[in-house]
Amino acid sequence: MTTVSLNSADLSTAKLDVLVVGATKGPKGPVLGAGAAAANKALKGKLAAVLTDLGFTGANGETARVTTFGATAAATVLAVGLGAAEEVDAERVRRAAGAAVRAAAGSRTLGTTLAFTAGLDPEEALRATLEGSLLGSYDYTSYRHASMEGRKKPVQSVVVGVPDKKSKSAIAAVKRAEAVTAAVALARDLTNAPPGNLHPSDLADVALAECTKAGCTVEVMDEKALRKGAYGGIMGVGQGSANPPRLVRISYTHPKAKRTVALVGKGITFDSGGLSLKPAASMEWMKSDMAGAAAVIASLAAIAKLKPVINVTGWVPTAENMPSGAAIRPGDVLTMYSGKKVEVLNTDAEGRLILGDALWRAGEEKPDLLIDAATLTGAQLVALGTRTAGVMSNDDDLRARIVASAATAGEAMWPMPLPEELRKSIDSDIADITNTGDRYGGMLVAGIFLREFVAEGQKWAHLDIAGPAYNNDVPFGYTPKGGTGAAVRTFIQLVEDEATR
Ligand code: BES
Ligand code: MN
Ligand code: ZN
Repeated sequence: MTTVSLNSADLSTAKLDVLVVGATKGPKGPVLGAGAAAANKALKGKLAAVLTDLGFTGANGETARVTTFGATAAATVLAVGLGAAEEVDAERVRRAAGAAVRAAAGSRTLGTTLAFTAGLDPEEALRATLEGSLLGSYDYTSYRHASMEGRKKPVQSVVVGVPDKKSKSAIAAVKRAEAVTAAVALARDLTNAPPGNLHPSDLADVALAECTKAGCTVEVMDEKALRKGAYGGIMGVGQGSANPPRLVRISYTHPKAKRTVALVGKGITFDSGGLSLKPAASMEWMKSDMAGAAAVIASLAAIAKLKPVINVTGWVPTAENMPSGAAIRPGDVLTMYSGKKVEVLNTDAEGRLILGDALWRAGEEKPDLLIDAATLTGAQLVALGTRTAGVMSNDDDLRARIVASAATAGEAMWPMPLPEELRKSIDSDIADITNTGDRYGGMLVAGIFLREFVAEGQKWAHLDIAGPAYNNDVPFGYTPKGGTGAAVRTFIQLVEDEATR
């Protein structure tokens, strides 16, 4: 685990393996940031020229590392590009901090001057530097040989230079960054875990352990309780698997709270598609189909540590979608927890079935806001690409607030509509509705299906994180390959924003 600490200085006298300095891209080459002044002076003003010789321009995401041959207390200087000066914002700094920490893997101690980045509020720059550094140092090693032969270990200790390390706001920023990034790491770990080692009961156990430890109350409904409670959606999806489903309720309460937010996360521990079996290539990353659930569990744990003045309830419906002699068939009708009857035309549209039950159950408690996150549709990737989540809602203002909180947190989320004309595509010939509709606008059809399980007057929003939850590509910024922890930072930020609204 990488640790972080503050130092009241430009770090020019700190003994470090690596000193990170930011640079923007100017018309004539890299323009060093304020944090680079001391190192540049020790190098007789030649740092920018040396970096240019190495091909470094200050472009967004670029890194270059130079030895200082003993001229600075740090053994090496690592420059990281922030792009054009007028484009620098908190997310640029967060990503630069992450890219720098990743580039420095294999080193033990790293000092970063990115909190001195000009052009943004110093507290914002500090928060971004802390978060980016900690998020970028993530590594999933549970299933690797201990020696990690041939692999570089993450930086062990990150020192962040600040004007005053004793300032209350700086100390609070460290505490928050630690809680938030630990939550993201937990969500990434859960998403990366092999599906055979993370059955629904295991996911429930993690929620119980992690959220109880953080100060929440956790209740788990097992398959018996779910059958008795007539949770037809969760039981129906789970019936093809030897590993039975669960529904977890996590509760964080604050004595002075006036409002309650309910968060619901899709927890399909493996999505084979069921009898509507997925092709092999699409199945490869379906261990990540519980990323929404991971986000709910992890953010509840962080929220309980941060103690905002608001109540938050987390709901995790979790099942394994498998084909077997006991599995639901295309054409079967499920009676959902709400009583609505759903004709299952495609067993691969399973997420909406478990979410329908969980949304209706969560809605019974009449939360002020009801928000779900789910790796729900391939259509999300078609519409918005791999990195941008879709936000749908029955309330325009809530949707805008979620998009705003996501932007503050540094997560790409975009507002999407729920066009009324798509509703008829889920009409069923024999039941109340079907679980699939128009292929065009598939993300929106799924949203419209979920809306069927939200009571009149209940404010609700749905985040489709199918793409953003799992990075199949190379690492970038602070985002590793594999599980990303998508929606965790947005959930925490949104809850904090709602608590002070
Ligand atoms: N878990 C998938 C969605 C998904 C696809 C997530 C790709 C991440 C990456 C979901 O359960 C699913 O299979 N959806 C179907 C719905 C269709 C049958 C209406 C889809 O998108 O193909
Ligand atoms: Mn599916
Ligand atoms: Zn799925």
